[in-house]
Amino acid sequence: MKVGILGCGAIANIITNFSQEGKLGVEIAFFYDRDMERAENLASQVDGRVVLNLEDMLDEVDLVIEAASPQAVEQMVPLILEKGRDVLIMSVGGLMNPQIRKNLESIAKKNNAKIHVPSGAIVGLDGMKAASIGKIQNATLITRKPPRSLGIETKEETILYQGKASAAVEKFPMNINVAATLSIAAGMEIEVQIIADPQVDRNMHEVRVVGDFGEFRTVTENVRCAINPKTSVMAAYSAIKLLNSLNENLQVGT
Ligand SMILES: NC(=O)c1ccc[n+]([C@@H]2O[C@H](COP(=O)([O-])OP(=O)(O)OC[C@H]3O[C@@H](n4cnc5c(N)ncnc54)[C@H](O)[C@@H]3O)[C@@H](O)[C@H]2O)c1
Repeated sequence: MKVGILGCGAIANIITNFSQEGKLGVEIAFFYDRDMERAENLASQVDGRVVLNLEDMLDEVDLVIEAASPQAVEQMVPLILEKGRDVLIMSVGGLMNPQIRKNLESIAKKNNAKIHVPSGAIVGLDGMKAASIGKIQNATLITRKPPRSLGIETKEETILYQGKASAAVEKFPMNINVAATLSIAAGMEIEVQIIADPQVDRNMHEVRVVGDFGEFRTVTENVRCAINPKTSVMAAYSAIKLLNSLNENLQVGT
């Protein structure tokens, strides 16, 4: 399977490194970034091709990894799906708007393409998906990050946001991916708290879910990417595992 990358930042770097080690199960052949230098750096590591426009790779690839931004999801993912190419979306916050999500689903259906959303920087998505078959009474995500990761300086624990996932998108577009992924899996908007915590040096996510199945609580303490501390290594790993699983005959987990 031939793959292209849209957005050559921290996540794309980790994925490309694994591809060099032959651990991806797919060939990353094309690279696009609005910052050409970033695309060139990554392409040179795997003998890949840089394209000046996203469209230039679409006749050649089976799947595009979107690792750019929520805006790219709205503006560029439709072009990929219209060509009947599959897409793996990392900027899941871009799917929080139900109109955008429905539009992408409808284009995908019309063109027989798939939209893959990896579990990202969170554990517990399997449980959330299973729980959604019954009735979920409440689902909450508490995200704690070092203040600098959230773009502020403070010496005290500070709650920056409390409320529904969709309203957090405007304020924290780069920190809402986990909330968006959980909301889509739950089939309902989850409650979100975003806390700047000077006591932590990892990106932490606590998920609490109560439903007719019982209840679960998960805590993920993520190591941050060296290239982009806002991003967790686990997010890139989950994309790599999803790419692996496209070729596997035994599928484990929901
Ligand atoms: N699903 C998750 O759990 C999860 C976790 C971490 C990050 N993310 C998201 O994944 C995305 C990538 O993360 P990252 O850490 O690699 O980001 P990054 O900032 O390190 O890299 C993003 C790259 O995309 C490029 N880019 C942005 N918008 C573009 C556009 N419209 N067209 C072309 N290039 C564009 C930038 O120039 C940059 O090189 C972000 O949206 C981030 O919020 C998701």
